[in-house]
Amino acid sequence: MPSQKILIASDHAGYALKQQLAARLRTLGYDTEDLGPASDASVDYADFAHVVAKRVSSGESQRGVLLCGTGLGMAYTANRYPHVRAAVAWEPEIASLAREHNDANVLVLPARFVNEAQGTAILQAWLDTPFAGGRHARRIEKIERPLHSPEELR
Ligand code: RB5
Repeated sequence: MPSQKILIASDHAGYALKQQLAARLRTLGYDTEDLGPASDASVDYADFAHVVAKRVSSGESQRGVLLCGTGLGMAYTANRYPHVRAAVAWEPEIASLAREHNDANVLVLPARFVNEAQGTAILQAWLDTPFAGGRHARRIEKIERPLHSPEELR
């Protein structure tokens, strides 16, 4: 759906792959906003995850892509925001399932563990796979409804 706006950001570990994937998104026709950093100088991943996650959480943007070394710091930070479902994906099938089952609106790539070809294939799978809905929609609704007592499990 190339009319969608996609935000992309990284830390220094994800910088090179961010540049490659941002170019790929633009080639595919996506309205792509690169929120930094502008070089591979050392930065703190949370500063960049907050900016992307805040805008996805508010509904200002529908989708985001974040990259750091393992993907973990970016995902921890982004998933603190309501309505953000940030999925770390290290192969295309995980990205597909993150869309199909979890309606992942933020893709997180572990840039120290995937090369450009793998990253591109993961991104493509995430872009191409629709959310399945149905029972998965019920499960997603429960993510933001923590249990208050054991009785609620019944
Ligand atoms: C930076 O060295 C590294 O900690 C970061 O890219 C990421 O892997 C954190 O989760």
